[in-house]
Amino acid sequence: MSLSEEIIARDKDLVSPAIYRYTNIVFDRGEGVYLYDVEGKRYLDFVAGIATMNVGHSHPKVVAAVQEQVAKLMHAACHVGYMEPYVELLEYVRSFMPGKLKHGKGILMNSGSEAVETAVKLARFVTNRPMIIAFMGAFHGRSMGALSMTASSSAYRAHLSGLLAGVQHIPYPYPYRCDFPASSPEECGQASLHLIERALQTVVPPADLAAILVEPIAGEGGYIVPPDNFLSGLREICDRTGALLIADEVQSGLGRAGKFLASEYWDVEPDIVALGKAIGGGLPLSATIARRELMDAWPPGAHGTTFGGNPVACKSGVTSLRITMEEGLMEHAVEMGDYLQNQFLEAQKTLPIIGEVRGKGLMQAVELVNEDGSPASELIKPIIKEIGDDGVVMTKCGSSSLRIAPPLIITKEQMAEGIEVILKALQRHQW
Ligand SMILES: Cc1ncc(COP(=O)(O)O)c(C=O)c1O
Repeated sequence: MSLSEEIIARDKDLVSPAIYRYTNIVFDRGEGVYLYDVEGKRYLDFVAGIATMNVGHSHPKVVAAVQEQVAKLMHAACHVGYMEPYVELLEYVRSFMPGKLKHGKGILMNSGSEAVETAVKLARFVTNRPMIIAFMGAFHGRSMGALSMTASSSAYRAHLSGLLAGVQHIPYPYPYRCDFPASSPEECGQASLHLIERALQTVVPPADLAAILVEPIAGEGGYIVPPDNFLSGLREICDRTGALLIADEVQSGLGRAGKFLASEYWDVEPDIVALGKAIGGGLPLSATIARRELMDAWPPGAHGTTFGGNPVACKSGVTSLRITMEEGLMEHAVEMGDYLQNQFLEAQKTLPIIGEVRGKGLMQAVELVNEDGSPASELIKPIIKEIGDDGVVMTKCGSSSLRIAPPLIITKEQMAEGIEVILKALQRHQW
């Protein structure tokens, strides 16, 4: 029995099977864009701990900042007093926010789910309205509050009916597989906006709508880039009804999609933004940032956390974000994303199993299809396992898309190396 097999056997004896694993790799260490298993085999990391390790694994500057902070203060709790790393991280993040959010205020938590729940709690409190519009296909987390808004798979909700009341889901515009007859992406976007109007007429009294919660680019749901009219349409509905626009940028934000916030692609300014994943540089951290007057309306004690804004996580996060911004990694992500798209679009000419290639920056999806055009959902998991065996770690998004989200530091040569492994696997499965 290899060491990997032994660890997996111990894991299976102990760990809930509810935790699904895409690969059978037992990770031991990471360096830059590579991960190593306990046998010392090297893997190219095409998923970055689920769109998180933007500056790569164990970046020396992040390691040094964490080590220094660990030796100084590991935890004191934000309710007990003040800590400079908390302030430093929020100051840095806020400096890149658009418009009014540049003067906004924030709260730090531990996970993306909590950041979303914080946003929704704040919206309901300050508007004193109960309802939320969210989208089918959306992923906002798995704790019960966040799950009430998540709608990327009914499996996540099995036996859990009776979640947060007052959440109305509308189909997210998915131009490649639009839920409505649409002859252009904009028509698909318009159809979703129209359904929101219908909901406002029939089930969501406009004066009861606290917020519209949206991923500017759908993550788990398939790395779906919405049509250009969608986000601005949501902004207009919020302005008209007095509801708040919450952007869940947990996955799409902080440079992953090539801009600090993905909503900047459409020049839309949210009222509240949820951030997570890369914000901790690999340690658990998340943030909710809102317009100043919204946060100022939330009285002391209305919200809180023991570990949120932990100083070690803040130091890790701010160091990682500084590297991202100072080394031009957002621009690099756009260049690498374009390169990857072109490679897959070229391959699509001889590999019709590739249905669509889409994404922004290094948030890219390659949707696999069956011969009749239906999603190749039976094939996706075995293909991902094979790609893993061949030395490239990745996961899926949507029902049949390869999710490609490597560290933003990846070079063109490393991209080419990963693309070659993926294309070989697709050739083996081409119908
Ligand atoms: C857009 C989005 N929101 C929220 C979450 C939940 O984050 P976490 O798993 O850190 O709770 C995720 C996680 O994938 C996400 O992609």
